[in-house]
Amino acid sequence: MIRDMAREFAETALKPGVIERDNKQHFPAELVSQMGELGFMGMQVDPNYGGGGMDTLSYVIAVEELSRWDASASVIVSVNNSLVCWGLNEFGTHEQKEKYLKPLALGEKVGAFCLSEPEAGSDATQQRTTAVDMGDHYLVNGTKNWITNGGRADTYLVMAHTDREKKHKGINCLIVEKDMEGFEVGPKEDKLGIRGSDTHSLNFNDVKVPKENRVGDDGFGFKFAMKTLNGGRIGIAAQALGIAAGAFDLALEYSKIRKAFGTEIFNHQAIQFKLADMKMELEAARALVYRAAWEKDQGMDYAASAAMAKLHASKTAMFCADQAIQIHGGNGYVKEYHVERFLRDAKITEIYEGTSEIQRMTIARSLR
Ligand code: CAA
Repeated sequence: MIRDMAREFAETALKPGVIERDNKQHFPAELVSQMGELGFMGMQVDPNYGGGGMDTLSYVIAVEELSRWDASASVIVSVNNSLVCWGLNEFGTHEQKEKYLKPLALGEKVGAFCLSEPEAGSDATQQRTTAVDMGDHYLVNGTKNWITNGGRADTYLVMAHTDREKKHKGINCLIVEKDMEGFEVGPKEDKLGIRGSDTHSLNFNDVKVPKENRVGDDGFGFKFAMKTLNGGRIGIAAQALGIAAGAFDLALEYSKIRKAFGTEIFNHQAIQFKLADMKMELEAARALVYRAAWEKDQGMDYAASAAMAKLHASKTAMFCADQAIQIHGGNGYVKEYHVERFLRDAKITEIYEGTSEIQRMTIARSLR
């Protein structure tokens, strides 16, 4: 049912304006509200706090289907679900859940996750943003970079250093509201892909954040970010899977219509071999993504499985999008046929929520 609902929404609501949104870098605010009404914004959140109470596999299937047409819309869903709602649902206080989680889960508000900084991307323990303990509040100063939903969010989860001596154990996660004094949204990034998503740098100048807005115990911020990202990586893996599946479907369909040398190009072995390889990689990626989701639902340690799922699915998205362009020939290189957008959108899945190199590190560390 979830697959059918997400597929229908993707085809009827996301597909029609997706090329224009990509061209104009237009954030799909109305579609986000609709996705909230359909329950896509807080799928795994406790129903007591406005969520769907679903498992990770259901969430992954929804992200996969939305990504078949619009990876910009699906990353808004993925960040809100895995990086913001999941962490608050798991580690937030009752008060934080009532005040912040509920409107996020209902899709009335949008969330953002703020870990990356100009000098702390892959090397995420090197946070320069500070949260000085002032007794009843923290004073936050610093800059965050490449923040998805940056200019559109209402609620920001911000990682910042309170005690440098303690290294990553001195980092806290604080809930910052968009209207807090001293919080400023920087310029919007002009990106290669996922151009309908809204990416900004953020500045914090003496932002007073009440103590009750800290998520978890003092010093839990880095562990919070890592635990949250383990699940986030399954969400991005599902996004990559959806891009790969969307590219494959369009290529297959086109190969059965387009004629060359007296027959549909599907009948040429050169095209069949491409489609066979795409199908194989796609199904392998799907198995890894669903397995990681299942392991998470079983309460197993799924960090390495999430990394494998993201690493393989993002490679598959790049491969399938590239092959889909080749099968479309000249038509593949123009926007009308969608597949060139899939290649541009696929690239970010090898970068955000941990680059492919970080995923390899995570897999290798699990082998020690
Ligand atoms: N799950 C749980 N805990 C983890 C973890 C994981 N995957 N990876 C590391 N940790 C824990 C370690 O166990 C360690 O905890 P202890 O001190 O209790 O032992 C702690 O985190 C520090 O880890 P390391 O000692 O291994 O530190 P490191 O510097 O060698 O490695 C890293 C850390 C794994 C490379 C980490 O910095 C990392 O994952 N970097 C990538 C950051 C990232 O994914 N950024 C994405 C930005 S968010 C984004 O893209 C959002 C968006 O808008 C789409």
